[in-house]
Amino acid sequence: MLDRSAMSSVSLNPRPPLRVVLCGSVDHGKSTLVGRLLHDAGALPEGKVEAVRAACVRRQVDFEWAFLTDALQAERDQNVTIDSAQIAFRTAERFVTLVDAPGHEEFLRNMITGAATADAALLLVAADEGWREQSRRHAYLLGLLGLRQVAVVVTKMDRVDWSEDGFRAVERDGRALLAELGLAPFAFVPVSAREGEGISGPSAKMPWHAGPHVLGALDRCEPPAPAPDQPFRFVVQDVYRHNGSRLLVGRVESGAVEAGQPVVLWPFHKAATIASVERWPESGDSRALAGESVALTLAEPLFVERGHVLSHADAAPIVSNRLHASVFWLGAQALRVGDELRLKLGTQDVPCRVATIGKAFDPAHATPELAVASDVSRNGAAEITLQLRRPLVFDRHDRIAALGRFVLAHEHRIVGGGIVTTGEYTGRRDTKSQNLTQSSGTVTAADRAVRNGHRGAVVWFTGLSGAGKSTLARALESSLFGWGMLVSVLDGDNLRGGLNSDLGFAPKDRVENIRRAAEVARLLAEAGGVVIVALISPYRADRAVARRIALEGGCEFVEVFIHAPLAACEQRDPKQLYKRARAGLIREFTGIDAPYEEPLDAEIVVPTHELTVEEATMRLVDFLRDRLERGGRDDALAAPAAYEI
Ligand code: ADX
Repeated sequence: MLDRSAMSSVSLNPRPPLRVVLCGSVDHGKSTLVGRLLHDAGALPEGKVEAVRAACVRRQVDFEWAFLTDALQAERDQNVTIDSAQIAFRTAERFVTLVDAPGHEEFLRNMITGAATADAALLLVAADEGWREQSRRHAYLLGLLGLRQVAVVVTKMDRVDWSEDGFRAVERDGRALLAELGLAPFAFVPVSAREGEGISGPSAKMPWHAGPHVLGALDRCEPPAPAPDQPFRFVVQDVYRHNGSRLLVGRVESGAVEAGQPVVLWPFHKAATIASVERWPESGDSRALAGESVALTLAEPLFVERGHVLSHADAAPIVSNRLHASVFWLGAQALRVGDELRLKLGTQDVPCRVATIGKAFDPAHATPELAVASDVSRNGAAEITLQLRRPLVFDRHDRIAALGRFVLAHEHRIVGGGIVTTGEYTGRRDTKSQNLTQSSGTVTAADRAVRNGHRGAVVWFTGLSGAGKSTLARALESSLFGWGMLVSVLDGDNLRGGLNSDLGFAPKDRVENIRRAAEVARLLAEAGGVVIVALISPYRADRAVARRIALEGGCEFVEVFIHAPLAACEQRDPKQLYKRARAGLIREFTGIDAPYEEPLDAEIVVPTHELTVEEATMRLVDFLRDRLERGGRDDALAAPAAYEI
């Protein structure tokens, strides 16, 4: 039964358009629902239904609404200018674009690339079959990507004789299942798209249903409020020359920017000023807001390319070569530690390697049991760490979704996708003068690598006092020296005797201690050396700063966690400092009355209570030689990005 009255009163002030992704099991009646929705919304071309009915008569098959959707799809496929996965129509209150998601891969690609990010989702489940694996997986993906406005459409109600009990059972299972994924659907809508019940008006067949029909549910959704006060992010797609100026073409992914504002260009941390905001046709508006694709020009002649990101100085993105994520894996082969993939985030495309796999689970199962796993099978989900071959500019997904989601590709196929779950923001207020002109020479990092036989790197030892940092740093130095490498050590106690003699152990002083050490290490690494830094460096954020400083200099950065339990360090107590700290003679002593944050980003963990100095040194030497010498001359020459793993 159709209630067309809603259609006849189209609002004069339509609400903002809504993008809705359709998902759920393939055979749960999606095409039929789309055909019916378009019909009931009055969005079908004149005579279309009649034409398809006539074709059915000719072919002696019963008319089905799905045929109509298929016919429209076929027409769209002919017309390359129209995105075949999107269908637009109008409800009483607004325009709606339906984004179809036939399979996981399309769904992920659509949702993650931003080509079709949706404001809401209709998740289809057939009343006679209930929650199938694909519906569960799609539900998991909705939760993962943070899509919170979800309505469940329970289709094929005619197959269960319009039974309220049947519907309630699907609803009950659905609520429990979705709650585990962090989703609370705002409506469960019983329909029979075939019979046209529950689509655009109350159904006489299901008088027990007090909730909305499908179009009504769509009108209940809100597009996300534009958030110009979010941190500004501009993702560079391309750089063009036009009338003597360089146009950075791209999209404002969040926040806003205005001509005249100072900005920072990432990943290389270059200060710049927006000279102009350009649009075609010209609008005269010097401001650009989230969601807009515009061209920006900078006052400074900086080198900019696809993949670079602009932000404001006081709300910088994360820049790192390690990333922690929740991922969904689509690859035919199981995902394993050591797998080489490409990560695509915004317009960045960076080779990466799976460094660790943490907890994994199969979202198709009713209760997602998180268990530590060694691999992730197809359609599984996991928490992983990726090591990137170049510095990546990104955000945590919960802060800025557009820069916090990515796809994983292998040989041009999308094999997974995910969101960034954790990461340290290392932005700091820069008070340095704007009137600086930094010089650079003609000797490149590759030239130095060829001369030295290895790339420059900062090898950052962190760990408690007494864990063995200095001992191992010296053993490693001597071993690498023996291998003919250009190597040196920056040791905390030594630095504190000179460069950092004005600093104590309050958090603020440790921050500065680490920053200075990182800057010096970067200079030495830029000069081609392998610099072993041995500092307690108890805070994750400080170590992330050290990493970023090295990456900005185009240097490799390796964090090494020199790990021994506090009790073991206290027992060793080589400098008798724990004893004095326990006696209250030293304040703010790490591990006693000052914190130590264990690394999440360490490339290597060295358990010194389990290994001899020789064993630990050998491990480090193997790792570093492989990483810094690999490929020898040709590789060094071919890799202007000296930080390639
Ligand atoms: S960090 O925290 O700023 O990285 P750093 O490694 O430079 O510390 O210095 C640690 C060394 O300073 C220790 O090995 C120890 O010899 C000495 N020290 C003196 N006081 C303290 C303290 N309160 N906490 C930690 N180390 C201390």
